[in-house]
Amino acid sequence: MTILVTGGAGFIGSNFVLDWFKTSDEPVVNLDALTYAGNLENLASLKDDARHIFVKGDICDRALVDQLLATHRPRAIVHFAAESHVDRSIHGPGAFMRTNVEGTFTLLEAARGYWGALEGDAKAAFRFHHVSTDEVYGSLKPQDPPFAETNAYEPNSPYSASKAASDHLVRAWHHTYGLPVVTTNCSNNYGPYHFPEKLIPLMIVNALAGKPLPVYGDGQQIRDWLYVTDHCSGIRAVLAGGTLGETYNIGGWNEKANIDIVKTVCALLDELRPDPAGPYARLITYVKDRPGHDRRYAIDARKIERDLGWRPAETFETGIRKTVQWYLANEDWASRVLSGAYREWVSKQYGA
Ligand code: NAD
Ligand code: DAU
Repeated sequence: MTILVTGGAGFIGSNFVLDWFKTSDEPVVNLDALTYAGNLENLASLKDDARHIFVKGDICDRALVDQLLATHRPRAIVHFAAESHVDRSIHGPGAFMRTNVEGTFTLLEAARGYWGALEGDAKAAFRFHHVSTDEVYGSLKPQDPPFAETNAYEPNSPYSASKAASDHLVRAWHHTYGLPVVTTNCSNNYGPYHFPEKLIPLMIVNALAGKPLPVYGDGQQIRDWLYVTDHCSGIRAVLAGGTLGETYNIGGWNEKANIDIVKTVCALLDELRPDPAGPYARLITYVKDRPGHDRRYAIDARKIERDLGWRPAETFETGIRKTVQWYLANEDWASRVLSGAYREWVSKQYGA
């Protein structure tokens, strides 16, 4: 048996593939276009591992996806590939519509053709697992309960609108064609191999370089943080036991204001790599807010716990310490991803 993973060279996808082989010998075909966010170095430990078949390619390429399905006969598709950064979606929404909407459509159509021709047990066992985000639910007010699976979709950014559109496509392909789908909507992940354009790795990398730590607006926006391997175990639980056509929210019960996240990162760096120039918090700099910035996300993860027995293994305190330690032990990884393209992005987003 084999699974097809899309986007498996990105942050969560590469963690998922690495984690998969800790508990399974089932081969993974990994289809990834290697955009700026994809990095084969994340998978270097699998270089000579026959269980991992990497294919550089685009999920919008129907002929390629058809060919991979026909050749490898996967029992499941786990779909991570996406444009994932909200700020980039504000500067240039086109790539988000193409990959997140058209790419998901292409995969669904290819999966429908492949699954439609399966028979018996293979047909019954097939799954299309769509990896999505809590951002599709919009923004919460301070007293609102956390997002449940029954919340209305109210996406506010081009990124979240494109993910919401993809979720709707997945739902419709189940409802209309019977395609055996499951969807997970997860909160903010953090951990190893997180590209340093997102809050936590950006703060670590900037702090170590003595650069400003840019906090948007008043820094009081709230996110619900989940260590990435807990997201991976949640996906495995839903892939194995989720009810077809259902969605499952995955979250860590860790609501934190951005400024508190930044201060926590600074305090850990003060402990683990003290800077002779003074505490890292001196670098905190409030900058212009993100347009349309969602104020609060929080996940009600009771359904996945009740139905599938999943709970996160890490607390925020254990996960953030591991994360900072990983970046300190892998400074070479970070310096290699900080390419010319990355520097161009930083100057476009943050100015001089
Ligand atoms: P990422 O940006 O780190 O990685 C995305 C990967 O997809 C990259 O390897 C990239 O090369 C690949 N890709 C992009 N366009 C492609 C295309 N057209 N064809 C093939 N591959 C392509 O993203 P991530 O943070 O790992 O997120 C993975 C998934 O999880 C996304 O669907 C995202 O919406 C979702 N998600 C992310 C978070 C989070 O906190 N990062 C939380 C919830 C859900
Ligand atoms: O909620 C899940 C989502 O989490 C995923 O679907 C997205 O793919 C993922 O990128 C993430 O989106 P966010 O916009 O929440 O993540 P980001 O790390 O970009 O920002 C986290 C918070 O920190 C957000 O409120 C904006 C703020 N921020 C971010 C950056 C990059 C800053 O204050 N300064 C910054 O420089």
